[in-house]
Amino acid sequence: RGFLQTLGRVTLVTIVAATGTFYYVTQKDRHPGPQLPFDPEKKTLVILGSGWGATSLLKGLDTTDYNTIVVSPKNFFLFTPLLPSVAVGTLNARSILQPTRYVTRFKSRQVSVIEAEAKEVDPINKTVTFSDNSEIQGQVSSTTIPYDYLVYAVGAETQTFGIPGVKEHACFMKELHDAERMQRQFLDCVESAAFPGQSDDEKDRLLHMVVVGGGPTGIELSGELHDFLEDDLKSWYPELASRIRITLVEALPSVLPTFSKELIQYTESTFKESKIDIMTKTMVKEVKEKSVVLQMPDKSIREVPCGMVVWAAGNKGRQITQDLMAKLPEDQTNKRGITVDDHLRMKGTNGTIFAIGDCTASSYAPTAQVASQQGAYLARILALLAKKDGLEGKLAASDEDADTIRKKIDKIKLKPFHYSHQGSLAYIGSDKAIADLPIFGREWASGGVATFLFWRSAYLSTLFSLRNRTLVASDWMRVKLFGRDVSRE
Ligand code: FAD
Ligand code: NAI
Repeated sequence: RGFLQTLGRVTLVTIVAATGTFYYVTQKDRHPGPQLPFDPEKKTLVILGSGWGATSLLKGLDTTDYNTIVVSPKNFFLFTPLLPSVAVGTLNARSILQPTRYVTRFKSRQVSVIEAEAKEVDPINKTVTFSDNSEIQGQVSSTTIPYDYLVYAVGAETQTFGIPGVKEHACFMKELHDAERMQRQFLDCVESAAFPGQSDDEKDRLLHMVVVGGGPTGIELSGELHDFLEDDLKSWYPELASRIRITLVEALPSVLPTFSKELIQYTESTFKESKIDIMTKTMVKEVKEKSVVLQMPDKSIREVPCGMVVWAAGNKGRQITQDLMAKLPEDQTNKRGITVDDHLRMKGTNGTIFAIGDCTASSYAPTAQVASQQGAYLARILALLAKKDGLEGKLAASDEDADTIRKKIDKIKLKPFHYSHQGSLAYIGSDKAIADLPIFGREWASGGVATFLFWRSAYLSTLFSLRNRTLVASDWMRVKLFGRDVSRE
């Protein structure tokens, strides 16, 4: 009895202490202290974007060195790896967002966060023009500001290859509003199929979901759609569930070309068990309101009726990136994106523009891993540059200690960017994930339920804040207990 009482007390004290610590940490995160004001003596650093590259830079940046301005049409960071989970309601949208101010308000010197879309970068006069795209506008909706250094991290947009009907009829899976739109359209298809009097053919059409692109986005989304069907729709739409079909269309001979062969096979066999049809060597030629036009492996053309098409066919540079590159025709000739040197400086800009992430053309894949490592690297480089600029200022101001200052300047070496690949992970549905991990210099491939648990813990720990981690973990718990919501907003 005495033992049980002691155990009870210890448990109670542990719970109170853990709750108290959690409360203390969250409250500390909610009340940022005062910050240093802008300093006219400091250089101006403008950061375009609030995605993986920009946010990682902001996290590591010592803002005492610069007057920092962030310009992005979104005043938040979006944790893209979990976006497909939002599209089927496994996660709430806000669980994977982190307002940019939650990062910048904790910096030593104030950072100006401007919700606007950059329209033009002038690399000669070193200015950026941006405009307010919101529906509510004040007196000023467009302005131009100068910069000393510009970090260009605007990402990419979805590649459509100019295929007819894609923009008009397909859903994308890139931004938060894409996931929300897909969720609405998917449930709309299901409810329309449930409308009295619908013919069997029409029900089959409405309940046929086509995912285009067998890259990681298309695979993860198909897996999530399958989970929604199995875990929830079968219960709430028993009369329709057996008609719901998911087809993944891929132009290449196999899905997931960047993963190891065994994981490709594992994914294909898991999809087969999950009744997700994979059509490889098949290219989408047109998307119509109620169908997709496919070029089959034997080059014949087939029109397939469907209720929804999700387009996940890769990346393409944004218009502003193409315009910026066009201003430096001699140095920027790569059609895939911005060419940078080993220190991520945009070629042709004399070290005043750094470009990171998906907007660049490099030997690295356009991934969050690359962008965030580049952002963290730039934070270190910008600190060194500030030190160097400070010493050069001192040197110009007086010739006292000139040799010592010069020696100090010479000691500042900017190391080139080095990417460290941490492995590739993807969720494939049915509580299974795949992982290609470099362990002791060798690639280690794994797939299954244990890898799924690893996938979850890896992404939970990669989320940028305790707030996001708590929200995502509680969403997973909510879905385990109550299932996904099938109401259509
Ligand atoms: P982004 O993160 O896209 O950020 C670009 C920023 O620029 C955004 O804030 C945007 O609002 C802003 N912007 C756009 N236009 C302008 C403008 N004109 N002016 C100013 N700002 C602008 N990678 C992985 O490594 N692992 C994964 O599991 C993974 N999963 C993914 C899942 C999905 C569904 C998607 C779509 C991508 C996934 N990726 C993953 C890829 C990863 O998201 C990208 O490689 C990464 O976002 C690139 O970072 P970035 O900073 O270059 O661009
Ligand atoms: P992707 O470029 O990796 O794949 C797109 C696929 O669409 C290609 O395989 C292509 O052959 C196919 N395709 C293009 N046009 C087609 C057509 N008309 N018909 C049929 N198929 C067509 O694009 P994705 O998946 O959006 O990924 C973009 C980047 O983000 C990649 O670098 C990827 O590695 C990264 N990413 C990583 C994830 C992860 O690691 N879990 C998850 C999602 C994205």
